[in-house]
Amino acid sequence: MELQDTIKERKSIRGFLEKPVPKDVLNQILAISVRAPSTKNAQPWHFYVVTGETLEQLKRANVERFRSSEDPPEEMAHTLIEPEKGTVYRDRQVDIGKRLFKIMDIGREDKAKRIEWIERGFRYFDAPAAIILVGDKSRPIEGAYLDAGLVIQTICLAAVDLGLGTCIQNQGITYADAIRDILQIPDDKRLLVAIALGYPDDDFPANKVISPREDLENVITWCGL
Ligand SMILES: Cc1cc2nc3c(=O)[nH]c(=O)nc-3n(C[C@H](O)[C@H](O)[C@H](O)COP(=O)(O)O)c2cc1C
Repeated sequence: MELQDTIKERKSIRGFLEKPVPKDVLNQILAISVRAPSTKNAQPWHFYVVTGETLEQLKRANVERFRSSEDPPEEMAHTLIEPEKGTVYRDRQVDIGKRLFKIMDIGREDKAKRIEWIERGFRYFDAPAAIILVGDKSRPIEGAYLDAGLVIQTICLAAVDLGLGTCIQNQGITYADAIRDILQIPDDKRLLVAIALGYPDDDFPANKVISPREDLENVITWCGL
């Protein structure tokens, strides 16, 4: 696929076919994705590629913690900061939420459906594979996220190129302590993000949402032209 088409085609996928992703396909995605640039070539990433019964364990642990209203550990506090009310960032967040809930037929007052949607997220949208991206705690957090972002988008694009879909998820690492426990992630590693991954279910309504983008003229300042 042409790169420009791949970039255009990538979107968050929140419904997957019950079709396992072969290990060599996952490996192919990561093999090309580590070509992503990083600060002074630090390559400050490590990928826990989770499938099968181990992924089911993660899904169960997340949902159990959510159902028992467990607070996420302090180390995840930064991922839970919401954009301030009255900012465009908040407006855009609300807008994408509304689009997803509308197409999923989840009403404002429909608590059961809302909870099911949240749990679906904790189940990595029932994906057959998930990548838990971790960095080293010795790296400054800002740089860690910048480098991580580059490899994350590369993974998402490489996945599309191979016919797969992804959803980047902060939600998927909310209960970091449970994930550490199950995957045996050492304390000196920082959990950065989860990526749900699998073959897209094209009939799943949320997968039809195309998230809008701000007009280019509002995000570019031309200098010297
Ligand atoms: C760092 C990061 C964390 C995200 N976390 C979540 C998440 O927890 N749940 C979710 O449904 N989508 C999550 N997303 C996906 C965004 O909602 C999505 O990328 C955005 O709405 C733009 O839509 P698109 O990916 O379809 O272009 C996350 C995206 C990023 C970059």
